[in-house]
Amino acid sequence: MSLWERLQALARIGAAPDGQGLVRWPFTPAEAEAVAQVRAWMEADGLRTRRDGAGNLFGRREGTDPAAAAVLVGSHLDTVRGGGSYDGALGVLGAMEAVAGLPALRRPVEVVAFTNEEGNRYPALLGSRALTGALLPDELDRRDPDGMPLREAMAAAGLDPAALAGCAAQPGRYAAYLELHIEQGPVLEASGTPAGIVERIAGLRMGTATLLGRADHAGTTPMDRRADALHAAAGALSAAYAAADGLGRPAVLTCGRLTLRPGSPNVVPAAVELTLDMRDAEVGRLDRLAEAAHAAFAAAAEAHGVKLRWEMRPGTPPTPMDPGLCDILEAAARDLGLPCLRMTSGAGHDAMAVARIMPAAMVFVPCRGGRSHTPDEYASPEACANGAALLREAVRRCAS
Ligand code: GLV
Ligand code: MN
Ligand code: MN
Repeated sequence: MSLWERLQALARIGAAPDGQGLVRWPFTPAEAEAVAQVRAWMEADGLRTRRDGAGNLFGRREGTDPAAAAVLVGSHLDTVRGGGSYDGALGVLGAMEAVAGLPALRRPVEVVAFTNEEGNRYPALLGSRALTGALLPDELDRRDPDGMPLREAMAAAGLDPAALAGCAAQPGRYAAYLELHIEQGPVLEASGTPAGIVERIAGLRMGTATLLGRADHAGTTPMDRRADALHAAAGALSAAYAAADGLGRPAVLTCGRLTLRPGSPNVVPAAVELTLDMRDAEVGRLDRLAEAAHAAFAAAAEAHGVKLRWEMRPGTPPTPMDPGLCDILEAAARDLGLPCLRMTSGAGHDAMAVARIMPAAMVFVPCRGGRSHTPDEYASPEACANGAALLREAVRRCAS
């Protein structure tokens, strides 16, 4: 099966009805089906497969020197709710395509499909953080939006939660990590450039802000007698958006989920929980954005007589990619006749976690309209093939 045929086949797993895109959340039957399918393809390609305690799937091809550190190459199989067919999937299937065309090489090569990159259900980059020994102290107690702790979700998916902490790679096991991904932004398409080499991944802070007010009758409670959690949140969000606008590109702030309690049309909202996702390429600017957002929520809470619970995760600082690997990618692109651009990734990737323990770099290919995290996400067969070819050439150089 070609890379394109595999991408289209994988896109049917977890497809929501009526063209609403994919939902492959971690530790669900849809994710299990995707992992089983990819595992079968890996084995058909002659890779030796294993799954670790985080649910990461590996497919290994030995090198002529089996003791040499391996080149790791891959991405993730989970999607956001309503996601597209290329985010993550191209990096895993493209890695398999790249490896399938390689001659015998000194180093082993491992293809990896990481668990829970997206973080829609549990804190993001779970699989790649597990590989690098960077788990949160309370990782297994983290709950999904329905309140299910990670340990229960893992057990329900047939994984042993106690094994999560044992996934860290032995020092010296890997020499380098390469990840192919759609750009998820408009730069490559707009400039007609077939490849991007990621020099840096923007830092991110995410978490929840909860405003706790008081439920009251919507018809009888005068505006000046309410502790309306949403009224406070509305003002706070406007001020936080203004802070991001004021900082200018590449600062971004997103509230992607807002939950109201009790959620009745004729009841003043007693509580609002909203997610915040803030990003920038520089840590100082990211700090300023996060501080401005916090100040906006604190001021709005005070003004409306509601309480604020501010729960931000430590987040990830802006992460530089390895300059030597970027040079290898650029030389490989030149030899293949693929013009390329050096760029910053606004999106988060497993490479940012992996870069803690080994040199890491990424290849981007254009996607239509720069659209991603939507069912409209699309990368052409040619773009996908270019990415796999560039990845193959880079892996060949790294593994020789
Ligand atoms: C991962 O896709 C992210 O949210 O950047
Ligand atoms: Mn992705
Ligand atoms: Mn994504």
